[in-house]
Amino acid sequence: MADGQQTSFSHDPVMRDEIVDVFAEVPPGTILDATLGGGGHSEALLEARDDVDVIGLDRDPEALHAATQRLGHFGRRFRTTMRRFDDIDEGLAEHGVEALSGAIFDLGVSSHQLDEGSRGFSYRNDGPLDMRMGPDANWTADDVVNGYDVRHLADIIRRYGEERFASRIANAIVAARPIETTNQLAEVVVAAIPAPARRTGGHPAKRTFQAIRIEVNGELEALPTAIDKAIDRVVPGGRVAVLSYHSGEDRIVKQRMMAAANQCECPPELPCVCGAVQTVRIVRKVAKKPSAAEMERNRRSTSARMRVAERIVEDS
Ligand SMILES: C[S@@+](CC[C@H](N)C(=O)[O-])C[C@H]1O[C@@H](n2cnc3c(N)ncnc32)[C@H](O)[C@@H]1O
Repeated sequence: MADGQQTSFSHDPVMRDEIVDVFAEVPPGTILDATLGGGGHSEALLEARDDVDVIGLDRDPEALHAATQRLGHFGRRFRTTMRRFDDIDEGLAEHGVEALSGAIFDLGVSSHQLDEGSRGFSYRNDGPLDMRMGPDANWTADDVVNGYDVRHLADIIRRYGEERFASRIANAIVAARPIETTNQLAEVVVAAIPAPARRTGGHPAKRTFQAIRIEVNGELEALPTAIDKAIDRVVPGGRVAVLSYHSGEDRIVKQRMMAAANQCECPPELPCVCGAVQTVRIVRKVAKKPSAAEMERNRRSTSARMRVAERIVEDS
């Protein structure tokens, strides 16, 4: 992991204007940016609302360093915490904050993480097989690529990468061990995919790299708890917005928001006797996508889906 001293950090915040709109009318107070990255969304919110402050959370020290430099001029209105986003409670306690006006999650990796070869996420820029978002991750891409058995490897490539050639790729990886760099891994993956299929759907190694990254960082495991905790912390009228980038993430987001919107567990044909209270309303039934212009300008935004829930009642 680099020492966090670099200052250039490029990441174009996805659906920036839409995020500003989502939080335009939440009550004054604190908004948690649970995936601070380069601080693009935090900056937009701090500029748009002078009656809110932001706590920026990230597990990546490089992101925290870059965002602190960028947003330092907001003074006490911008504070940070370095941890995983399912540790929201500890992050808020660090700053003596209990209730939130809102929370935003912009899932996955930043362009900086993806492009910086030394982080090991890139199938274009060579680097070590690392892929850890932060020092808290328990293992690296090397452990997955060179250590998992072929069935386990195929399973994560299929599930987290939605890759139809997962078995072929997993077999090719195992046959090529030891694999030491991201370029070597990318070459093995590309060679395992039939030539006609390599020509469609972006870089042929993209889905496999995404799958390994999700596995290394336990990305899907942390998400349900994090969303539930954020919903619990938000005041009436406050909102939780989540930008996800693949169907596995979006399914979890939708499920957690729907659970909070209708927590009654009674059979639907009978009147409610369980006393469940609906805590949020879903702001849009269908996830919102970036505009055509944004997708054209920023290719990395194309898979984004935004879901928003608004808190409607106070806990008794
Ligand atoms: C897509 S980037 C966010 C970009 C940011 N919205 C901006 O405008 O610059 C996602 C960030 O979330 C962080 N991240 C992802 N999963 C995390 C988790 N479970 N806990 C803490 N941070 C996480 C990553 O390290 C990365 O910096």
